[in-house]
Amino acid sequence: MNFLKALILTALFISNANAETQKPVDITVYRSASCGCCGKWLEHLKANNFNVTDKVMEDVLPIKQSHSIPENLASCHTAIVDGYVIEGHVPASDIMKLLKSKAKVLGLAVPGMVKGSPGMEMGEHKDAYEVVSFEKDQKTAVFSSYEASK
Ligand code: CU
Ligand code: CU
Repeated sequence: MNFLKALILTALFISNANAETQKPVDITVYRSASCGCCGKWLEHLKANNFNVTDKVMEDVLPIKQSHSIPENLASCHTAIVDGYVIEGHVPASDIMKLLKSKAKVLGLAVPGMVKGSPGMEMGEHKDAYEVVSFEKDQKTAVFSSYEASK
């Protein structure tokens, strides 16, 4: 095999590998129509290679209850991806990390509405926050943490 051919094959191999990792991830988001930041979080997901099924409803509380989301972790929207529950403004990168880890948790949450989390951008200001994982027995653990802007 000459050098050029080897180079082309390598390039093909790399582009294939990239296509594989860039396959869009299906996610279903439950949100209320009146929630502006929910719509912004959807845009954040779409910009990060998620294929979003958008379920707009009047009241998302029954969805949260049926997925055993601890009350103190509740936020605005709830999403389901690959059997995991995603509550609130969780960064797309953390969702990808969870999917790769295949962790035995119910899901991830960013409780409340944190300024500066994806979909909650307010200028340059960011509050510190944690993404927490939660389990069926309400056990939680810190999954990742973000620092406040200076
Ligand atoms: Cu929100
Ligand atoms: Cu929301």
